Amino acid sequence: MGERLRDKVALVTGAAQGIGAGIARAMAAEGATVIAADVNRAGVEALASEIGATAWMLDVTSEDGWAAAADHVATTHGPLSILVNNAGVELVKPMTAHSLADWRALMAVNVDGLFLGCRAFQPLLAAAGGQGRPASVVNISSIAGLVGYPDQLAYNTSKGAVRHMTKSLAIEWAAHGLPIRCNSIHPGCIRTPMLEMAVEGWVREGSIPADDPWAAVASLCPLNAVGSPQDIAMGAVYLASDEARFVTGIELVIDGGWVAR
Ligand code: NAI
Repeated sequence: MGERLRDKVALVTGAAQGIGAGIARAMAAEGATVIAADVNRAGVEALASEIGATAWMLDVTSEDGWAAAADHVATTHGPLSILVNNAGVELVKPMTAHSLADWRALMAVNVDGLFLGCRAFQPLLAAAGGQGRPASVVNISSIAGLVGYPDQLAYNTSKGAVRHMTKSLAIEWAAHGLPIRCNSIHPGCIRTPMLEMAVEGWVREGSIPADDPWAAVASLCPLNAVGSPQDIAMGAVYLASDEARFVTGIELVIDGGWVAR
């Protein structure tokens, strides 16, 4: 058990599985009090009982849901030191097959969710940072927020918005003298249920071989590997900790070298 996040309260969205679960685990292991939030009740309750966290049902698209989460944190814990906006959904199909409803549903989670979360928690984050150690918002974007990929226009666009919302909030909070840092993480291919679904699709359409698809995915990456949630969690712990007290507005790429080419 480490102490890098001792005395900090962290809320992680999309914490029932995948990258969010990895971040919640790592933050709890570094001494944070963790609130694990998700729409998947069974998943988030299992994770919370494993790591000694509080499970909180939250649909990040719901303004009322965010207000209830902020009330709960204010009443139970007081200030919030760390907000990790990780919940996200993907949509893989050509642009002409995106309906407007598809587009809006994806943006509601990946973009509106961040806006609503940051707005609902700004006062509690500022109160935590007011104790002399800036609060930290960590937004999970993607390498798809930095470069284009085919057949995922809404997803790519949403992740570009996450990157820019992060920089805009970092500067807005600094300009207003609010002690809240704000940074984005840009994962490459990380083995989670989301990527497993995508890989199944690539196998079905024949773009990667069925016999050893994960080796094929790894071979696309300069380090010839697929990342794990822990790889992203280590970046999130750093950005959330006081080690990163001078770090705001950055885009931390954790992708095995994918976008360095
Ligand atoms: P995942 O699909 O395995 O897990 C996502 C979690 O978010 C699930 O527990 C789900 O219930 C929750 N969620 C979905 N909609 C929600 C909502 N409206 N409110 C609250 N929770 C909701 O996905 P994964 O792979 O763990 O992805 C996490 C984040 O990382 C996402 O933002 C994703 O876009 C991003 N990412 C993932 C990559 C990967 O290779 N796995 C690569 C780049 C970015």
